[in-house]
Amino acid sequence: MKQIVYITRKLPEEVVAPLREKFTVRMWEEEEIVVPKEILLEEAKSAHALWTTITDQITREVMENAPNLKVVSNFAVGFNNIDIKAAKELGITVTNTPNVLTETTADLAFALLLASGRRITEAEAMLRGGKWTSWSPMQLTGMDVFGATLGIVGMGRIGEAVAKRARGFEMNILYHNRTRKMDTEEMYGYEYVDLDDLLKRADFVLILAPLTEKTKNLIAKRELSLMKETAVLVNASRGGIVNEQDLYEALKAGEIWSAGLDVFETEPVSVDHPLLTLPNVTALPHIGSASIQTRLAMMKLNERAIGDVLEGRVPNHIVV
Ligand code: DGY
Repeated sequence: MKQIVYITRKLPEEVVAPLREKFTVRMWEEEEIVVPKEILLEEAKSAHALWTTITDQITREVMENAPNLKVVSNFAVGFNNIDIKAAKELGITVTNTPNVLTETTADLAFALLLASGRRITEAEAMLRGGKWTSWSPMQLTGMDVFGATLGIVGMGRIGEAVAKRARGFEMNILYHNRTRKMDTEEMYGYEYVDLDDLLKRADFVLILAPLTEKTKNLIAKRELSLMKETAVLVNASRGGIVNEQDLYEALKAGEIWSAGLDVFETEPVSVDHPLLTLPNVTALPHIGSASIQTRLAMMKLNERAIGDVLEGRVPNHIVV
């Protein structure tokens, strides 16, 4: 009897083919619709491997009812959709897809930083909306990126990749992280600061920390009130790190200048989400790692990790 792999989202056949040669592959055949909880529960009961995305909640309930389950391979570097503690207790390996998405996500984070500083999407909407009646001296004026101070919250691989780009813009780089990175501090002159200091001094605050119990609502009313009125907040990590209601109020009241968001507390967001009613918000539908090359490279990692675990090898990129 072949072992069973359940894939929670329709993937290109060439990606799935190598798995089909060795295992029985079952797949949720929808690209745009999340697999319903009851189907996930049912499929997990017989699965030896789950290939999941950030939209699937892999709870203790799912894993406790999956007696054969050996591996959950998440199509993301983040894994806040998986109950890691339960996986560990149940002896289930969890893998993720780091490294291959670092540069792509850094590109997108930097694009958001530029777009929200320079009001790119707002300007395009004005033009396309037929509202460009005349060029005028202070029309759509934004904030300079070149030479500004960038504060990175969460200096992991993606944070360092953004900092590399920011050096080309001669930005002054502050960072806050669980651990200090003395080597890069010395090499590039980055300054390690506490979070309050970073918020007070940065012209651009970029959130790249993972979502955990500690970082949930890390940026709320008090933190936003520390930021400059001219500051731009960019979140390219997870929505839950920034309190959306507080952010909405700060942006509306002009307590901060603008925000660039690739992520939201609950995704997908509907068009009537309060933040989307504000012109000083640049909003994207969680596309940080969405380049063709990167998504295919991430898929390769998932495919390999599943094969490794099911065939008794130690996979790369083990979370637990
Ligand atoms: C990640 O990798 O965590 C992204 O948010 C989804 O690709």
